[in-house]
Order: sequence, then C-alpha cells, then structure tokens
Amino acid sequence: MASVPDDRKIPLFITGSVVRRVLSSPKKMVSKYVNEGDVVADLGCGPGFFTFPMAELVGQGGKVYAVDFDPRAVEGVARKAKDRKLDGVIEARLSSASEIDFIPDASVDFVFAHGLLCCMKDHSGTLRQIGRVLSKEGKAYLSVTRFSRKQDPRSVTADEWEKTLALFHVIRSGQGLFIRWALVSKDGGWPELPASGGISPACCCT
Ligand SMILES: C[S@@+](CC[C@H](N)C(=O)[O-])C[C@H]1O[C@@H](n2cnc3c(N)ncnc32)[C@H](O)[C@@H]1O
Repeated sequence: MASVPDDRKIPLFITGSVVRRVLSSPKKMVSKYVNEGDVVADLGCGPGFFTFPMAELVGQGGKVYAVDFDPRAVEGVARKAKDRKLDGVIEARLSSASEIDFIPDASVDFVFAHGLLCCMKDHSGTLRQIGRVLSKEGKAYLSVTRFSRKQDPRSVTADEWEKTLALFHVIRSGQGLFIRWALVSKDGGWPELPASGGISPACCCT
C-alpha cells in the first residue's frame, strides 16, 4: 500500500458508535441500493457500520468486499463476520481503495464509498478502480464531508466535488448537514481519469 501513508484513519469508536446507529438506520439507507445475491464493494468500510447490513441484504448467495487500509478496522470486520456466520459472504481485505486488484473487472453490482474520498489523497486512482470493478449495470454511491480544508490534498472541496460529478453519469445527488453524496452509474461509460492523484478536471477527458 505505497500510496496511503498520509490517508486518514477515523477512530473506530466514532464510525462504529451506537449514537450513529440511533440517529440513522444503516440498513434502511443501503436497502435502496442493495439486492439479494448482489456483489458489493464497501470501500473504506471502517468497523463495518454498513458492511453488515449490506451482507444481510445480499444474503448467503451474495458477496461483500469490505476494504480498508486500517488494520484494526479490517481485523474487527473479519472477526465479527465469523461470529455472525457471515464469513462466507464478507471478504475483509486490508488494502487501499485505490489498489483493489483482487476484485475482478466488471464483477460488482454496487460500490459503496461513504466518506472515503475525503480521507485519502488518490481520488482519481480510486475512481478508476471503481469504474473497473463495476458491472455494466452497476452503481456507485460516493459521499464526502462538507467540511474541507483547501490546502489538504485529501480534501474534496465543494468545487472539486461539482467538477468531479460533472464527469460522471449522476443518477441522484444531494447534501445533508455533514455530507455531499451522489449515486453514479456507468451509463454512457466511465470518464478517463488520471492514474493517480487528485481530480483535476483540466486533465480528464469528459
Ligand atoms: C469517514 S470513515 C467512513 C467509514 C465507513 N464508510 C462508514 O461510513 O462507517 C473513512 C474510512 O476510510 C478509510 N480509508 C482512508 N483512506 C483509505 C484508503 N486509502 N483505502 C481504504 N480505506 C481508507 C478510513 O480508515 C476510514 O475507515
């Protein structure tokens, strides 16, 4: 994982907190996108707040790749998957989201990247990988925090978000108190993105 030393780990007690679960049901949120038998990639899965509801939705006939570069997050997800007899469904992987070569091309129905891009530097490498693994009919949910610092290369500013979305086929998008989100698809293709780094629309083909 050469490209991740400065990427941001989020304390697991925050991403896995009970308060979060009380405020919003993770299953309700992902049930709009995930169906029985689907193959899902949860990129930047953290402690599995959404991984487990998605694994229940896809069922034993589906699969959820749970990917994070934080070893404690991945170990925790693998352990809980075993305890909950979901280890045949969840494949927990310690990896950068920009280096998911273990996921075959065009094999994923739904990519979930909630709060990921704004924690990492390699936005374009990750979006390229998402495009590679998504099936023709596949969809990806992307979200970033609304709180960003312009000087921080991990940040996705409002401007970068708008310019990035302009490159994709956006099915729906919106914003809440804390996040900006979009559901994108491969309809009409996937943009050509730089091999790695931030998204600079000037160097992308639309
Ligand atoms: C804001 S948290 C969101 C966690 C989870 N998606 C959720 O909503 O509960 C961002 C996650 O991205 C992970 N992350 C940061 N950089 C990463 C990278 N390069 N590759 C994979 N995961 C990364 C962090 O370790 C953290 O778990």
